[in-house]
Amino acid sequence: MIRVLGIETSCDETAASVVSLANDSRPEILSNIVLSQIEEHAAFGGVVPEIAARAHVEALDGIVEAALADSGFDLSDIDAIAATAGPGLVGGLIVGLMTAKAIAAAAGKPLIAINHLEGHALTARLTDGLEFPYLLLLVSGGHTQIVRVAGVGDYQRWATTIDDALGEAFDKTAKMLGLPYPGGPNVEKAAATGDSTRFAFPRPMKGSAQPDFSFSGLKTAVRQASAAIAPLTEQDVCDICASFQAAVADALADRVLRALNRFRAEFQAIETPALVVAGGVAANRAIKQTLEQLCRQTGFRFVAPPLKLCTDNAAMIAWAGIERLQSGMVDADAFDFVPRSRWPLDGVSAPVVGSGRRGAKA
Ligand code: KG4
Ligand code: ZN
Repeated sequence: MIRVLGIETSCDETAASVVSLANDSRPEILSNIVLSQIEEHAAFGGVVPEIAARAHVEALDGIVEAALADSGFDLSDIDAIAATAGPGLVGGLIVGLMTAKAIAAAAGKPLIAINHLEGHALTARLTDGLEFPYLLLLVSGGHTQIVRVAGVGDYQRWATTIDDALGEAFDKTAKMLGLPYPGGPNVEKAAATGDSTRFAFPRPMKGSAQPDFSFSGLKTAVRQASAAIAPLTEQDVCDICASFQAAVADALADRVLRALNRFRAEFQAIETPALVVAGGVAANRAIKQTLEQLCRQTGFRFVAPPLKLCTDNAAMIAWAGIERLQSGMVDADAFDFVPRSRWPLDGVSAPVVGSGRRGAKA
């Protein structure tokens, strides 16, 4: 039996969780506490790093205590402490990693520094017991990536955004239209009563031989369309949201289909390969339906972990810690690990100029 305490503080959620893995049985989430800072940032229309770091300092002790209490175990029953060490906002990362170092040192337990993206990448093994290899679509506020996941520590990025992340495009569109933060859910809500055919927005990269995503041109098209008909009525806003969402779903489908075909070609022996979706944008029903349909058409299995585990949480960090322990991939120098605001999952693929958002949300 292994039990790991996970800590996550890379953006605007303060989270702690205990996950266990018994011999020859499924993993179990014994506790999973997430404190969102959304209200603290809402007035600013986005995450403010300084406010986030302070909020983590204030909350983390209590959140860790609550996660241990909920799990029914003491620190002495925990085998290791796993903490997000990057990528993300460096203030929050320092709070989480330093707290984890202090707990691990005081309790005499090993410390495991986890890449936040690895947490997202391995979640489907925690929730669905998925076997390697599989394809991951990560769509969040800070990242838009397609990653081939072939083993613990074996990740190959097949596509990324060359400008805005998808969640960021939703948030910026919402802001332009006067919808409250966070934008994604509000754009989806408005889109429900909008006409998706009223505006012919571009489908960025559609048909391109290059594998990557791009969303900033779409954002510009939304701005221009809004300016042309300003002042906007409520129905105008709904129509723009619906047209924007349709363009996003269409562009996404084109990019993901390319990756599905590549996966098929590279792993011909796998009869029913899997596409896993993670990140906050996975909450969007139109996008989910598009991906589901794509998987049906191509014979892929579609795996969408429960939303609570798709968005930022510490259970995925504890689980990544367990996976690393099981694979003997624990860094002996973890106590010297310095938080990394930028930390690509796939160290081999070249960085893409302009991608990501100030190292913030992942
Ligand atoms: O994974 P997440 O909770 O946090 C990180 O980015 O790490 O993702 C948040 C992002 C935000 O940009 C938010 O607007 C977007 O996910 N989002 C959505 C929806 N719900 C959240 N985007 C589109 N439709 C939604 N229903
Ligand atoms: Zn994330």
